[in-house]
Amino acid sequence: MSTKTDTTYDIVVFGATSFVGQILTTYLFETYGVGRDVRWAIAGRSESKLGTLKQSLGKEAVQLPMIVADASDESALRTMCDQTRVVISTVGPYALYGEPLVKVCAESGTDYCDLTGEVQWIRKMVETYEDTAKASGARIVHCCGFDSIPSDMGVWFLQQHAEEIFGAPCQDVRMRVKVAKGEFSGGTVASMMNVAKEAAADPKLRKELANPFSICPPEHRSKTRQPSLKGAEFDRDFGVWLAPFVMGAINTRIVHRSNALQNARYGKEFTYDEAMMTGRGMKGRLAAYGITGALGGFFTASAFKPSRWLVEKFVPKPGEGPSPEAQQNGFYDLRFIGKTADGKTIKTRVTGDRDPGYGSTSKMLGEAGMSLAFDVDSDKQGGFWTPASLLDGRLHERLTSKAGLTFEVLETS
Ligand SMILES: NC(=O)c1ccc[n+]([C@@H]2O[C@H](COP(=O)([O-])OP(=O)(O)OC[C@H]3O[C@@H](n4cnc5c(N)ncnc54)[C@H](OP(=O)(O)O)[C@@H]3O)[C@@H](O)[C@H]2O)c1
Repeated sequence: MSTKTDTTYDIVVFGATSFVGQILTTYLFETYGVGRDVRWAIAGRSESKLGTLKQSLGKEAVQLPMIVADASDESALRTMCDQTRVVISTVGPYALYGEPLVKVCAESGTDYCDLTGEVQWIRKMVETYEDTAKASGARIVHCCGFDSIPSDMGVWFLQQHAEEIFGAPCQDVRMRVKVAKGEFSGGTVASMMNVAKEAAADPKLRKELANPFSICPPEHRSKTRQPSLKGAEFDRDFGVWLAPFVMGAINTRIVHRSNALQNARYGKEFTYDEAMMTGRGMKGRLAAYGITGALGGFFTASAFKPSRWLVEKFVPKPGEGPSPEAQQNGFYDLRFIGKTADGKTIKTRVTGDRDPGYGSTSKMLGEAGMSLAFDVDSDKQGGFWTPASLLDGRLHERLTSKAGLTFEVLETS
C-alpha cells in the first residue's frame, strides 16, 4: 500500500477521455463499479468531455467523481494528487505532456503508472526525479500496456519456471510475436512519430535509443553483446522467418531494467531480444522483407518535415483508434524461448484476449493501477520501478484472473 493515508481516492484516471482512457474507464466501471470497495475518480482537461464519458456509462455512473486538470498546470495536478494514492495516466505523447505530472507525483509521494513507450523520456524522468521519488516514497511505473507488460511479465514468468525446474535462470531469452491482431490508434502513432522526429534532430538521442541498457542504473550496464534484429532473418529455434518488432526497442529496455532492479536475477550475462514471426517458406520470407521495408519507411518519413505530412495524411489522428468490434476480435500470442548457461531449454507462451494496443492494454493498465493501490507492500521504497520488479506475482495473478492474459509453459528439454 502507498505510504499516503487519508486520501479521498485510491485511484484517479488522468486522461480518462483519451481513446484508451475511455476503454479503461469502462473496464474499471464494469469490473469495480462506483462507491464499492475501490474509491476512484476520472480526470482530464475538459469538464464537458468528462461529463459525456460519465453519461455514456449509464445511470449508475452518476456517483463517479470528476477532477478537471490540465497536464501543464502544476497547481491543478497537485490538487489532484493530494486527493489520491495512485494516478493512472493516459495523457500522451508523454514526452510532450507527461513531465509535470511525474514531477508532482514524485514530490507528493503519489504512486503512478502509465502507457509510455518513449525510452528517451523515461530516461529523462528517471534521471530528474528518482531522488525525489525515493525521498517521498512515490512508486513510478512506466510502460504498463502492451509495451511492456506481456514482455516484462512473460520473461519474469519464464525465469520463475526456469529457476524451479532447472535450478537456474535462463541466460538467453528470445520473444517472438506469433500473432498480434489489432490496429494502432492516433495517440500511439503520434508518440512513434514524435520519437522519430526527435531522434532525427539529435545524434546523441539516436545513440541513446540504440543502447539496450539506456534505462538501467549505470552499475548494471552489462558488456554482453545483445542480439538485435535489424532486417529479415530465418529463426532456427522456431523454424520461421522473422522481421523486426516495432515495440522491441522499448520492451528490451524494460526487461533489462527489471533484471537490474531484481539484483541481476536473470544473470549479469543475460541477453534478450524480440522479433515478429512472419511464417515459413517463400511467403514468410517475402513478408519479413516487406515488414522490414515498411517499418524503415514509416520512421524515415516521420522523421523529416517534407514527408511527415504524407504519413499524417494516412494514419489515424489523435483520439481515433480501432472499433469496439476490432478490439473484441483482436488477440495476441507471444512465444518465448529461454536457454540456461548449460544448454537447458524452456518454451513458454503469453496470450491476450483483445487487440494488443487498446482492448488488452486498458485492462493491463487498470490492473497495474489496482496492484499499485492494493498489493504493493508499503516497505517497497519509492523510485522508478518496472511492472515485473515491483508488482511481480500479484500482477501476474490479476492479469490472469481479470485481464484476459494467459501464461503457459509449453515444453522443457
Ligand atoms: N503502451 C501501450 O501499449 C500503449 C497503447 C495505447 C496507447 N498508448 C499511449 O497512450 C497515450 C494515449 O493514447 P490514445 O490513443 O488514447 O491517445 P489520444 O486519444 O490522442 O488521447 C490523448 C489524451 O491526452 C489528453 N491531453 C492532451 N493534452 C492535454 C493537456 N494539456 N491536459 C490534459 N490532457 C491532455 C487528451 O485530452 P482530451 O480528451 O481532452 O482531448 C486525451 O485525453 C499515447 O501516448 C499512446 O502512445 C500506449
